[in-house]
Amino acid sequence: MGLWVGFATSSITQEAHYPADPTNPGTTSQVVTSNGQVEVIRKSSAEALIGLEDASLDFVYIDGNHLYDYVKQDLELSFQKVKAGGLITGDDYGPGGWWDGGVQIAVDEFCANYPVTTVWIRGSQFILRKTAE
Ligand SMILES: C[S@@+](CC[C@H](N)C(=O)[O-])C[C@H]1O[C@@H](n2cnc3c(N)ncnc32)[C@H](O)[C@@H]1O
Repeated sequence: MGLWVGFATSSITQEAHYPADPTNPGTTSQVVTSNGQVEVIRKSSAEALIGLEDASLDFVYIDGNHLYDYVKQDLELSFQKVKAGGLITGDDYGPGGWWDGGVQIAVDEFCANYPVTTVWIRGSQFILRKTAE
């Protein structure tokens, strides 16, 4: 969720292609991988997630708007859309930034209130596992 030049997607799919327009950093394109295919959904992360079937995803990588309210919504929608045992992951966990630590605050609050375990948090990356519906 959140696509700029596609570095994260390329890392996940191991393919060296960059599906978004790097001259247009304002794009809100979203990427879903399934069966090795990459689908670009030109919607906000919330709109894209709402359109997906509940408990249908193996993982979500959250890297869109980093302000607290947006991350909170992305986490809650991701929880709904990921299968039990699936992963909710993302970037830019930590204090500060123009988003004033919004990712870290939302992630910590989410971990305290939802049935998830922290797989690891390293650098700015976080990986949580959904343990129950
Ligand atoms: C930090 S960049 C993500 C970089 C991405 N991981 C990559 O490798 O290309 C965040 C991107 O999310 C987009 N974005 C901002 N708000 C969004 C939202 N609500 N939904 C989806 N994307 C959003 C921004 O325009 C920006 O391109």
